[in-house]
Amino acid sequence: MYMPGRKLEELSFYRKLSIYGQKLGVDVFIFTPDDVDDNRSRIYALSYNQAKRSWTRKWVGFPPIVYDRCRYHGADNFRKITRFRQKYTKLRYLSRPLANKWTIHRLLSENESIAPHLPSTVHYRNRKQLEQFLKKHPIVYMKPKSGTGGRGIVRLQRLRGGRGYLMQGRDAERRILPAVKVTAAHIPVRLAGWGLQSKYIVQQGIPLELKDGRVHDFRMLVQKDGQGKWQVTGCAGRIGPPFSVTSNLHGGGTAISMETLLKNRFGTEEKVTSIKEAAYTLGLHVAQHLEAKFGTFCEAGIDLAVDPSGHVWLLEVNPKPSRDVFRLTGDLQTYRNAIRRPIEFALHLLQKKAAPNTDTHLLDRVPPSQQSESHRDRSV
Ligand SMILES: Nc1ncnc2c1ncn2[C@@H]1O[C@H](COP(=O)(O)OP(=O)(O)O)[C@@H](O)[C@H]1O
Ligand SMILES: [Mg+2]
Repeated sequence: MYMPGRKLEELSFYRKLSIYGQKLGVDVFIFTPDDVDDNRSRIYALSYNQAKRSWTRKWVGFPPIVYDRCRYHGADNFRKITRFRQKYTKLRYLSRPLANKWTIHRLLSENESIAPHLPSTVHYRNRKQLEQFLKKHPIVYMKPKSGTGGRGIVRLQRLRGGRGYLMQGRDAERRILPAVKVTAAHIPVRLAGWGLQSKYIVQQGIPLELKDGRVHDFRMLVQKDGQGKWQVTGCAGRIGPPFSVTSNLHGGGTAISMETLLKNRFGTEEKVTSIKEAAYTLGLHVAQHLEAKFGTFCEAGIDLAVDPSGHVWLLEVNPKPSRDVFRLTGDLQTYRNAIRRPIEFALHLLQKKAAPNTDTHLLDRVPPSQQSESHRDRSV
């Protein structure tokens, strides 16, 4: 999607994607719904010229595979991408919108191996229900079910001696709200206008404060590889800024290697290894379960928390994850893998398509006019 000033949010990622594409024999074109000429079935796309280190525009046909990177940037943009996806259902998409946090929670609860890793969660109904929930859990998070980037998230911490709750968080514009003491009955009043009943989930909070009071969690990237198999590409820690109850990088969080963070907290190598194994297994199960529900997609960014006993919890699944966390921790091998894998997976899909008698339904999804060209150009 074009941002104000016709800027593209992830241009440097697209450049790297194009370079890996060239190495692997895949043409990568960048376009937004605004660049599509519906009448003549063509796209005025950006193409990266590595020799000249510059972007140029050219008219291209519809690619056989689309890697949809559109994230939510207001209702107008959302309408545009929805319209595109509804119009061009026959294109093959690498990524797909999953569902809101509440639906994902319910779907994942069905899976026996995932359920023990899900914090207790309810959809907000009313004050009474919230009060009951607060009695059960010393920390509670309230989150918009369709929010991103740590926006509109509130943490409630029970104070000792029945003195109410400490409420802090971020508003819808992601501004840090100063901590205030509240009573349970007062919480919905303080949050009037936030649309609690229609938009919010209420979740058991996992204690994630480090010694200096900052919160932390982990971002795992799970991707399909060149053989079409799920792999954990990597996992890294994120530490929120002071006074923040969220750790998102866009909200001022810093990235740190998972090993460093776990070693500092748990000391022994053995414990760190067993936590990592549990986290990796969970990540793969989550991807497989969601794929069974929604159909094939190429990657998911999974937010994980590890509580003081070492138990791994799943906080959120992101269908269009950034991979910056690995660049920021300096884990460049993982960062490169993270960029290359969607191309390798695309290639895998195209090769499957080219092979006779395998998965012919893929061919059906591409308009006939595109089929021969797609074999020749392997455009992404
Ligand atoms: N149940 C929870 N317990 C502890 N921290 C949480 C919990 N839920 C969210 N957080 C914190 O808030 C951040 C944002 O929450 P998340 O559910 O990932 O929503 P968003 O879509 O806004 O990223 C998390 O990365 C984590 O730092
Ligand atoms: Mg998140």
